Amino acid sequence: MPDARLTAQLPHTLSSTDFPTLGQKYQGKVRDTYAQGDRLVLITTDRLSAFDHVLTTLPFKGDLLNTLAHFWFQKTAHVVKNHVLDMPDPCVIVGRRAEPFKVEFVVRGYLTGSLWRDYEAGRDPYALALPPGMKKDQKFDRALLTPSTKAPIGEHDEPMSEQAVVDRGLLSSRDWARAKEAALGLFAEGQQQSARHGMILVDTKYEFGLIGQELVVIDEMHTPDSSRFWIAEGSQERFDRGEPQQMLDKENLRQWLIQERGFSGQGTPPPIPDEVRVMLADKYLSAFERITGQQFKLEVGDVRARLEKNLRAAKLL
Ligand SMILES: Nc1ncnc2c1ncn2[C@@H]1O[C@H](COP(=O)(O)OP(=O)(O)OP(=O)(O)O)[C@@H](O)[C@H]1O
Ligand SMILES: [Mg+2]
Repeated sequence: MPDARLTAQLPHTLSSTDFPTLGQKYQGKVRDTYAQGDRLVLITTDRLSAFDHVLTTLPFKGDLLNTLAHFWFQKTAHVVKNHVLDMPDPCVIVGRRAEPFKVEFVVRGYLTGSLWRDYEAGRDPYALALPPGMKKDQKFDRALLTPSTKAPIGEHDEPMSEQAVVDRGLLSSRDWARAKEAALGLFAEGQQQSARHGMILVDTKYEFGLIGQELVVIDEMHTPDSSRFWIAEGSQERFDRGEPQQMLDKENLRQWLIQERGFSGQGTPPPIPDEVRVMLADKYLSAFERITGQQFKLEVGDVRARLEKNLRAAKLL
């Protein structure tokens, strides 16, 4: 049974923010980003997106995601520098503003999700030339990169091969090479640390940028929005029996949309019932607590009021 506080928080979720004095606002699907010179104030709202549509909000999602990303940025800072300066509120990161690369770095350890759907349909958009006869959720011998463009708002990201990223001039071969190395290094670190907590980091997405000549990882890291997480216990047995994995990530939502509503991104998205919102919030909570080994304080109440108070205390408002 999900914690009753998840249901109690349903009417208080943070769907949008409006802080004109905080800086120039850019509204992404999940985050509201305010630019102040060379700094960004990144507010992770409770908005939930899938297949590039914002569908609803989830109780505590912004706090859970942002606090988890902050945890991971700290845990991986020895591998690659990141944009984090401060976390003045559970759902806010103040970061250094970077010149973002136009490419998203998706790293995958397993054949699952959209890559499985491509493979099954005989598509190879990343020119991976995977061998025939692989099974759903099969582990790769080593992690693979499946890059895609960062599409402007309202458009879908475009998958492409490593070669195409450089050929099309999206990144110089030097920037590609160093970001690839960084992505694989972060992923290896994420997998090792997750394994210590009984979790499998299946795949994830990184965004990188430059501050001067320095490569930094920006945006979020190793959250259930940007990554797949499976519970390690029983995972091999499930795979051997051809059963689905126990997932603690957004794939739960994608599966629900596909199976229960026949929605995979085209047309108008269906409404999301409260039971499903609570079920998903429970997955995010569970992912947070397993990965960090820490209990998350669920404080039911108005997120906006708390946020404003903390931004003022940090002299950001
Ligand atoms: N340090 C940083 N410097 C510059 N941009 C950043 C930094 N960190 C994150 N961003 C950008 O801020 C935005 C975060 O918002 P969010 O994740 O909600 O957007 P999104 O919906 O994923 O993508 P889109 O940009 O297509 O709306 C992303 O566009 C991300 O690239
Ligand atoms: Mg994003």
